[in-house]
Amino acid sequence: MTDKLIIFDTTLRDGEQSPGASMTRDEKLRIARQLERLKVDVIEAGFAASSNGDFEAVQLIANTIKDSTICSLSRANDRDISRAAEALKGANRARIHTFIATSALHMEKKLRMTPDQVFEQAKQAVRFARNLVEDVEFSPEDGYRSDPDFLCRVLEAVIKEGATTINVPDTVGYAIPELYGSFLLDLRTRIPNSDKAIWSVHCHNDLGMAVANSLAGVKIGGARQVECTINGLGERAGNCSLEEIVMAVKTRRDYFGLELGIDARHILAASRMVSQTTGFVVQPNKAVVGANAFAHASGIHQDGVLKARDTYEIMRAEDVGWSANKIVLGKLSGRNAFKQRLQELGVQMESEAEINAAFARFKELADRKSEIFDEDILALVSEENVLHDKEQYAFVSLSQHSETGERPQASIVFTVDGREVKGASEGNGPVDASLKAIEAHVKSGAEMVLYSVNAISGSTESQGEVTVRLQNSGRVVNGVGADPDIVVASAKAYLSALNKLQSKADRVAAQG
Ligand code: KIV
Ligand code: ZN
Repeated sequence: MTDKLIIFDTTLRDGEQSPGASMTRDEKLRIARQLERLKVDVIEAGFAASSNGDFEAVQLIANTIKDSTICSLSRANDRDISRAAEALKGANRARIHTFIATSALHMEKKLRMTPDQVFEQAKQAVRFARNLVEDVEFSPEDGYRSDPDFLCRVLEAVIKEGATTINVPDTVGYAIPELYGSFLLDLRTRIPNSDKAIWSVHCHNDLGMAVANSLAGVKIGGARQVECTINGLGERAGNCSLEEIVMAVKTRRDYFGLELGIDARHILAASRMVSQTTGFVVQPNKAVVGANAFAHASGIHQDGVLKARDTYEIMRAEDVGWSANKIVLGKLSGRNAFKQRLQELGVQMESEAEINAAFARFKELADRKSEIFDEDILALVSEENVLHDKEQYAFVSLSQHSETGERPQASIVFTVDGREVKGASEGNGPVDASLKAIEAHVKSGAEMVLYSVNAISGSTESQGEVTVRLQNSGRVVNGVGADPDIVVASAKAYLSALNKLQSKADRVAAQG
């Protein structure tokens, strides 16, 4: 056991499994770069065997990111494991994470396998993976609801086969902190070779206790790896949130006494990047990264903080990336200042041509908006990324008319595979009219399950950031669009969601 706590980020795998959170290969690479800046120890880049897109994303990240270990998930079979190893070939440090369910419920109802068959398959998978890479993690899926005797048998056997990390998932978020911590401790105490592996926690947030359970797994259970995601992104209620676990361990070093490799100053940029890429908005009162996390509204608190900061603040806002000076650039800012700000925000562009294109869009925005904030730059870069991906639909222009007592009308120009088309419609409001104008032409038949508008930097002068969630034939996607005009932002978000619906992502579900 070491005194270092390993941070294993699974935003790009478990986080991405959240309906609507799917990301393109380039978006994943951009987030992986930010995770590397954060100095995350292990990045789970995807599930290579689940689709060609995931394979390519894992491969690209393995070939590009050099400081973090790159991991691919794989079910416990030779084909999945071989695909993972192939995708990870270019990595400086590669890890295969193989899993199979061990709870009676999952084995019987989902896998239709006997415990003995699961035992053999787990052993065989770890043996096979260890022939391909040195670093092999094994997860008994639904581990927390598994019979402890059976779990001890399986885990002892996979450690013998060479598993270097044992992860104990609370797959359905059923655990309670003390019970989860003791469960882990019990396994470690009973398994004779438990000291040959690093123990890891992986908690889902269905009862809102993912972070508390993970911390108990560390403190009581002796885990030295935590699996987590930026903003707690993930299926259903999500996963353990990286920013919360990191800041808990850092702020309460007196209690946990553990070292972390994380450079927390990049947390906020990572949070915004993930939120803007996936369209999953961060709630204002979210710990560490929410807009109100360091805001003191009440007079008593403000007075206290002015007299002595630590009266009401247990961490410093700037230590997680909040800057006092939020206005960064304006109309007169040059290309160098823009490029430097991109670097400070952790955005790496592939080529000078890409920087030029982003700078041109920045200038356009600066003509319409006097103060450009970090959030504006990140939104602009997200959009730039989308354009770079050569999507099927792209926004060109929009005009709309609305007047009290009249039904609003909109007409829109957009491109379909580079060819300009026009659409017009009326609607209940200008946004409704604009989206109906697009739909009149595209005829996607998709159902809108969420529409939300957020002021990127807090005032009416800011850009509106719109998220549109569409559902069609069992697929759910999120589209995000930003513009000072929220009707335009809505049209961009709708087109972005349609683009995602078009991209055929036939993938195997990790827990399927
Ligand atoms: O929650 C879970 O059980 C998982 C496994 C695949 C590790 O994500
Ligand atoms: Zn999970």
